[in-house]
Amino acid sequence: MSAESFYLTTPIYYVNSVPHLGTAYTTVAADALARYRRMVGDDVHFLTGLDEHGQKVAHAAEEAGMSPQEWCDSIAPRFVEAWEMLRITNDDFLRTTEERHKRGVQAFWQALHDAGHLYQGHYEGWYCVPCETYFTPDQVSEHECPSCGRDVEFIREDNWFFKLSEFAEPLLELYETRAAQGRPFIRPETRANEVISFVKSGLKDLSISRTTFTWGVPLPFSEGHVTYVWIDALLNYITAIGYGDPAKADEFDHRWPAQYHFVGKDIIRFHCVIWPAMLMAAGLDVPECVYAHGFLMTKGEKMSKSKGNVQTPASLVERFGVDPYRYYFLRDVRFGEDGSISMESMVQRYNGDLANDWGNLCSRLFNMTEKYFDGAVPEPPGEAPTEADAALRAFADALPASYAEAMERLDYGAALEATWDLIKDANRYIENEAPWNLAKAEETHGRLATVIYNALESVRIAALFCAPVMPETSADVWRRLSLGDIHAVTDIATAAAWGRLPSGNAVSKGDPLYPRIYDEA
Ligand code: MSP
Repeated sequence: MSAESFYLTTPIYYVNSVPHLGTAYTTVAADALARYRRMVGDDVHFLTGLDEHGQKVAHAAEEAGMSPQEWCDSIAPRFVEAWEMLRITNDDFLRTTEERHKRGVQAFWQALHDAGHLYQGHYEGWYCVPCETYFTPDQVSEHECPSCGRDVEFIREDNWFFKLSEFAEPLLELYETRAAQGRPFIRPETRANEVISFVKSGLKDLSISRTTFTWGVPLPFSEGHVTYVWIDALLNYITAIGYGDPAKADEFDHRWPAQYHFVGKDIIRFHCVIWPAMLMAAGLDVPECVYAHGFLMTKGEKMSKSKGNVQTPASLVERFGVDPYRYYFLRDVRFGEDGSISMESMVQRYNGDLANDWGNLCSRLFNMTEKYFDGAVPEPPGEAPTEADAALRAFADALPASYAEAMERLDYGAALEATWDLIKDANRYIENEAPWNLAKAEETHGRLATVIYNALESVRIAALFCAPVMPETSADVWRRLSLGDIHAVTDIATAAAWGRLPSGNAVSKGDPLYPRIYDEA
């Protein structure tokens, strides 16, 4: 285990519904980062999974006439299938009903109980089941959840409490020190302010158990209490890597703390307030960064099941293909901000960036290689580079650093733009150098070889940097150039060095990578 550990997670999704564009968005973004980090040689561990306890899931099961476990077992495969369809390369998939998780949850709360961080008390207040969140009377008016607008329930229970209020100061210090060190705990910056003012306004102790239903992990020290679903769910990030299992202590030490928890902005308080406080209480390190992205909006509204404006990932993948799907969400929505999505803009991106720029570059080049060089990468005669040759190469040489810098900021759009700078220049280069004219005379054949070689080399390099976002077509381009498995690359900067495309490699034309879509709606 010599490579750097890079541990990243998505939220674990509630199994009250099947995967939709919102949950797929977080998962695809995490996957693109995981793939990139593998390509720079990190020892990546990418976790996703399912949140299967709590009232919301119990209700869904009841409505379906199933036991909660049967219900979870019926929904879990839908997530597994969706992630396979989207080529998600998670290394683990945790379900909170698994023994390894339950054992870890119990070990954790036992430890906090033993260390005096818990006490028994009485809870009276509002509870929103769809959000699985407690609200105080002053946060609720007209029985409406301040977060989702649905009806809240009034609950009175004797519960166990976690002394969250004692962690306000340590939390504020955490946010401040990390920001001062240039490695903020909460990103993007705008989200941090929201969390800081929430903590400054004072933290209340948190009810961590429920007694009026049973679908949860039992507290080991108090009969009749099951853990509150959120503090069960948050623990997945450590139970998955062996917390609570002495046989996995080395794995846990190697993986923890995580580099990134990817979350939507809706669940930032749980991840930036409750979670680090729980970890501090247990004497564990807090993660390096919680990154909260924005919401996907359709026609100005958050896309959600309750609003009835949910598209399925499968319907879009069927229409556009898996790579264009992944490309669209990472290219068109600025990661970290809310973004509008629409069929029109998806068709535009597809036809413009993919069919015209990238697909067309590959097609015309592979065709010309077949036509002028019998389908083999030509050997350039080694003449001094022209200005155009040098300009093209400069785009390729600049790409590894600009891409790395963009990915460091999780700016997928900028990483793709940098890749498109090379793709667009390669198209320009072909237009200007006009290989079809060079092919007409014997004395320009040397130049023709140089031009085709340079353009093919640009395609090889562009495919490398498209791979984290568009794994299928990138692998296909490499196969057509008779290169090895693009997914086996573990040093992208070296792999991207100019001139590594072997002359003589067979080039196969194949079908267009992204056939144009004519129906614009
Ligand atoms: N089970 C909790 C998370 C526990 S993590 C310890 C949960 N689950 S969820 O199924 O509701 O998923 C919420 C997450 O789905 C959001 O944080 C976000 O990552 C993603 N999205 C759901 N709807 C979304 C949009 N409309 N847009 C973008 N992402 C959204 O909360």
